[in-house]
Amino acid sequence: MAREFRTVGVVGLGTMGAGIVEVFARKGLQVIAVETDAEAVERGRSHLTTSTSRAVGRGKLSQEDADALLARITTTTSLADLADADLVIEAVPESLDLKAEVFAELDRVCRPEVILASNTSSLSVTELAVRTGRPGKVVGLHFFNPAPVQKLVEIVRTVVTEQDVADDVKAFAATLDKVPVVIGDRAGFIANALLFGYLNHAAKMYEQRYASREDLDAAMRYGCGYPMGPLALLDLIGLDTSYEILDTMYKQSRNQTHAPAPVLKQMITAGLLGRKSGRGFYTYAGPHSSEVV
Ligand code: 3HC
Repeated sequence: MAREFRTVGVVGLGTMGAGIVEVFARKGLQVIAVETDAEAVERGRSHLTTSTSRAVGRGKLSQEDADALLARITTTTSLADLADADLVIEAVPESLDLKAEVFAELDRVCRPEVILASNTSSLSVTELAVRTGRPGKVVGLHFFNPAPVQKLVEIVRTVVTEQDVADDVKAFAATLDKVPVVIGDRAGFIANALLFGYLNHAAKMYEQRYASREDLDAAMRYGCGYPMGPLALLDLIGLDTSYEILDTMYKQSRNQTHAPAPVLKQMITAGLLGRKSGRGFYTYAGPHSSEVV
């Protein structure tokens, strides 16, 4: 019989983690969200209240439903509070050491039958699985930004993932109104492996001053029907995250397509991380704002 997931744990309340929490809470699940300290918990909470208030403002959610949604979310700074979760997804920054540490701890805290998932964009899910005593119950569950909006989730099956685990996670994703696709454990999975060569190429064109940022973005929006241009999308994803994804893919394949454009590193060093820091290729009204000034 398929597993039921009523209480889910989310580790990390950054852009992706907070979005994933919202996806679960919207579907009536109880969510236990873990961050490192009170300040990070507060940032995550504010992300959630902003997003739900916007939905209320647009008439997509009643105030009562928004309050009920937020009431289903418990926040904590202790991984030990995930002992009762039926499934846990990790969405901490893209560092193998950091994620491996989280998985080892989750393995100690969670019941042995509980599935542990990672929202990693490009790191090896197999490497995370083998840090636990339950490698067959570890999968990738990769959401797209903004998680409450994008329909796709990639389910990453390693060579040791148990068939029923992959099946149950796929069925679960469908109950969240997501479109699940299943892929083996290779850097970038499907979407990022295809997308990031294009984004990197755009950053290189910008760096070589082929065209202005506005014209580069306009070409892809109005010529190809993309919802946003590549430089605006890099700002949305975050230049630091984008760099990590490209670097991981490049190191795995040595394919020049994924050799990160030098301008990315320079911008990161200068603190221009995209929307999250208020400035990337564009300047925004404030950190996390989508309004270009
Ligand atoms: N959180 C929650 N909801 C959001 C949101 C957010 N951050 N941003 C936008 N939305 C919602 C809005 O509330 C609105 O909802 P409604 O239709 O129910 O009222 C809807 O999305 C449309 O928003 P807007 O009207 O404000 O703006 P747009 O129509 O311009 O859409 C966009 C904004 C959804 C970001 C759209 O431009 C888009 O889809 N862009 C492409 C994003 C993309 O490619 N994402 C994938 C990146 S790769 C990735 O994530 C992989 C990872 O590993 C890095």
